[in-house]
Amino acid sequence: MCGIVGYVGNKNAQDFLVSGLKRLEYRGYDSAGIVTVSKNGEATLIRAKGKIVNLEEKIAKEKKDDKIGIGHTRWATHGEPSEANAHPHQAGSIYLVHNGIIENYKDLKETLKDFKFESDTDSEVLAALIDSFYDNGKHPLVNAVVQALKLVKGTYGIAVISKNNPEEIIVARAGSPLVIGVGKDETFLASDASALVGHTKRAIYLNDGEVARLTKDSIEIKTLNAEPVSAKVEEIETNLAAIQKGGYDHFLLKEIMEQPESLVETLRGRINAETGVVKLGGPGLTDTELRKIKHLIIVGCGTAYHAGLLAGYYIEQFTPEITIETVIASEYRYRQAYIPEDSIALIVSQSGETADTLACLREIKKQGVKTIGIVNAIGSTIAREVDGGTYVHVGPEISVASTKAFTSQVIAMVMFGITIAQAKGVRAGALKPYVDEIVKMPEEIRAVLNEVNDSMKTVAGNYKKYEHAIYLGRGTAYPTAMEGALKLKEVSYIDANAYAFGELKHGPLALVDDRFFEMVLLPEGELYEKAVSNVQEVLARGGHVVIITNSDEFDLEVENVVKITTSLKLFAPILMNLVSQLFAYYMTVAKGYNVDQPRNLAKSVTVE
Ligand code: F6R
Repeated sequence: MCGIVGYVGNKNAQDFLVSGLKRLEYRGYDSAGIVTVSKNGEATLIRAKGKIVNLEEKIAKEKKDDKIGIGHTRWATHGEPSEANAHPHQAGSIYLVHNGIIENYKDLKETLKDFKFESDTDSEVLAALIDSFYDNGKHPLVNAVVQALKLVKGTYGIAVISKNNPEEIIVARAGSPLVIGVGKDETFLASDASALVGHTKRAIYLNDGEVARLTKDSIEIKTLNAEPVSAKVEEIETNLAAIQKGGYDHFLLKEIMEQPESLVETLRGRINAETGVVKLGGPGLTDTELRKIKHLIIVGCGTAYHAGLLAGYYIEQFTPEITIETVIASEYRYRQAYIPEDSIALIVSQSGETADTLACLREIKKQGVKTIGIVNAIGSTIAREVDGGTYVHVGPEISVASTKAFTSQVIAMVMFGITIAQAKGVRAGALKPYVDEIVKMPEEIRAVLNEVNDSMKTVAGNYKKYEHAIYLGRGTAYPTAMEGALKLKEVSYIDANAYAFGELKHGPLALVDDRFFEMVLLPEGELYEKAVSNVQEVLARGGHVVIITNSDEFDLEVENVVKITTSLKLFAPILMNLVSQLFAYYMTVAKGYNVDQPRNLAKSVTVE
């Protein structure tokens, strides 16, 4: 979603702002803008609808050597994508960029009768409000910002500069992340640390309710109630290679292909191949606490939700006396659900910033339930607010469609489940098959990716003409099918839905005709024969069936069989999901769509 960058120092601000915005492109946006201010208070505001190249073309005509500025990529919420609605917004001598939503903007607008609004945005209202308190420099800008924010209901990450004092940037956060980059004689700002990579390794993550005044050589942080905050400087772990395509045409393919390595990072130091023991330091639960767990709530959105569903199928196989409920965050936050005693909540999020997931986390904490994060983005809001957690450590995921995070989220949760089972006294022998397969999984992933990558290009090409797809699976293959369908629809815009195979006769079978193809995940195991019978039902109705299987037995006449070779039995569906990921990727390439930034979507959904 929206991105923020800022710079104050001795270098060219326009250069940093544009390069920073480019790094944030992956988050999704539909317009962009920057403003810089010269030493003598001349502001250059440049905004453009559409991609950053449009902004760059305009900047090339108005090149400046200003040393302070702020920039923004906007993902429209209030008002259509247009130049007038793009940030920064000007009000008098101040300029503002804003991420989030000002919920009471209509009421605030009523109080600003004299201001001539030029956009339809809630953000411009905030700019005007700050300007009214600033009174053209009669008061310190930081005080004006604080006064305005005290009247605001909603979420924000903001950066404000004034033509009157082109040496300071005022920033504040409530629910929308901001990272301050600490440099030598320069200070950076971004809504996501990836914009700072290569400029500084030292970062301060602003907390909700904090306001900071940034100059090139100072960072003063206070709460909105003027209490000083002593900031913790943390190291940015991401390196440049992690946020570049590294020879691949698209981030999506790069991220699919790096799963052997990213899963190794998830496992590192946590699983002992010899003894079979799993140890997770992050959750911070004692054996007594683990033993007591009777109920797990797993919360997430989209792919994270699917990862939770799949992990739940596994955990209940080997953990006694436990119930598991995987919920969609945007629903759960408004339900009146009873959480039984001795529950633990797993909060699953790649970005660690998803608004609905964060809201659930806060609700669940209010009920006194311990929360454990399964998060990728280090230092993200969810990671900071959970009681404990296990980072999945897959590195930055730039493509909007989540791939490597899914695989590692599932395995991180399964490992957490194993720690519960260990504490509850489950025999090591019963857990060993799971541990052994997890240990082998990175290499198995590598082998399957090599095995199917080329053929998926051809298979995807065969189904390019279809507008509808049905994904089918039973048992652990069912949540995996759900994830496959999500991947296909979000990047290739093919209408894809998943069904539990057993549900077919209860309705979806009516869909089978020449407009649809059916993608079947068919792992070996106790449900194999039943699933084969289901395939026959589809074939009998003229279905266009693609089978993904690890079985050598499959001998029905279908249009395509994608055979994977693996020694994994329990986790074969995770390998089948790699096939679904590649299928979605090659389908999107074949259709010529924007692979890494599908229309209408944002990487990090920070609004409800
Ligand atoms: C799908 C996808 C989304 C995210 C969802 C949750 O490919 O990326 O469905 O999984 O928006 O995001 P996080 O995990 O950041 O909370």
